Amino acid sequence: MDPIKNPFSPGAGAPPPELVGRETILEQARVLLARIKAKRPEKSILLTGLRGVGKTVLLNEIERMAAKERYRTLGLEAHEDKSLAALLVPPLRKLLFDLDRIAGAGDKAKRALGVLKGFMNGVRVKIGELEVGLDIDPEKGTADSGDLESDLPNLFVAVAEAAEERKMPVALLIDELQYFNPKELSALIMAMHKMQQRQLPMILLGAGLPILPGLAGESKSYAERLFSFPDIGALSEADAIKALRQPTKAAGVDFEEPALKKIFRLTEGYPYFLQEWGYQAWSRAPASPITLRIVQAATPIVIERLDQSFFRVRFDRLTPSEKRFLRAMAGLGPGPHRSGDIADALDVKINSVGPVRASLLKKGIIYSPAHGDVTFTVPLFDQFMLRAIPKLD
Ligand SMILES: Nc1ncnc2c1ncn2[C@@H]1O[C@H](COP(=O)(O)OP(=O)(O)OP(=O)(O)O)[C@@H](O)[C@H]1O
Ligand SMILES: [Mg+2]
Repeated sequence: MDPIKNPFSPGAGAPPPELVGRETILEQARVLLARIKAKRPEKSILLTGLRGVGKTVLLNEIERMAAKERYRTLGLEAHEDKSLAALLVPPLRKLLFDLDRIAGAGDKAKRALGVLKGFMNGVRVKIGELEVGLDIDPEKGTADSGDLESDLPNLFVAVAEAAEERKMPVALLIDELQYFNPKELSALIMAMHKMQQRQLPMILLGAGLPILPGLAGESKSYAERLFSFPDIGALSEADAIKALRQPTKAAGVDFEEPALKKIFRLTEGYPYFLQEWGYQAWSRAPASPITLRIVQAATPIVIERLDQSFFRVRFDRLTPSEKRFLRAMAGLGPGPHRSGDIADALDVKINSVGPVRASLLKKGIIYSPAHGDVTFTVPLFDQFMLRAIPKLD
């Protein structure tokens, strides 16, 4: 059928034609945004889930909601190799310049720019040739000690006070939060704690892999009182069918029931896979309706595409011993699995798998849902490993 009209959108952060099954979280976000604006305390939201479940898409939707509620939004994405300070300074600087330009009494934005300049000296952030403002002196003694955990909360207070003066609530949205190191995460949590204590209009909304609640709790035990960590997962059968059927219906195309059921079984309801199967099934169908046979014919193509892209990018970053570990794990099923069982499958002692396990955790390929257990962060990765390495020798 017409490829231009294909409604499905496989991709990272690509908005789906129909954002199904996330009503509860969107409602939670709506209440949160309204309560913070009204200076009422509310737990903030950090979305957690496996790769490809729709965290980025949801975070972007929440950003749109915040903008509609007249929040100033700052959207960021953490990286393995970029510091929190380097990531935050440019958007904060821009925010403060904009606040300074809005007419009104008070000079808290100017003061916050001075604090920001001090902060940059303290933690030694250099962002190219970026200067905070040549005519602004750094404020001494507020956020320039060089210790992120004391400087960041003070910087956020200065920024949020400037925002409050201009009656402009601020929403900081950070994707891939698990990439920050423990010190950065701890500084960020402490900064948000201060926002809550002082009832300042600045909130953090975030997303990350399922290790995030553990990381946050380890760095600050009060994190669970500041944030809720809704688990974003696969869709139920009814929602998965809706995610496939609604968009095609809107384009005047029907999906036969057995075809929908087949896609649900193959994808286990994981959103990214639903988009891939939907997309290829549409492409291969000569006309409406999309039948079971079409889905069956599209399946090897989808799997080939997934193996070459979604799974491959992860696989290519692995060392030979990491591949062996994952292959042994895959042989045991989807998981979670105990390290001892994986060591047994590899026929080695448990402590010899420790370093490999640690490096896979660090790369974010596996995570530990409970002490001693590990499981894949990528849905259906076990099946991919069995295809990639049919036999473990
Ligand atoms: N509720 C939903 N219904 C249907 N499709 C969805 C839904 N949410 C997301 N998708 C689709 O799933 C895919 C992945 O979404 P997204 O990139 O937001 O996932 P993610 O959790 O951020 O993944 P990663 O951890 O790899 O960054 C996209 O193609 C998107 O269109
Ligand atoms: Mg994402």
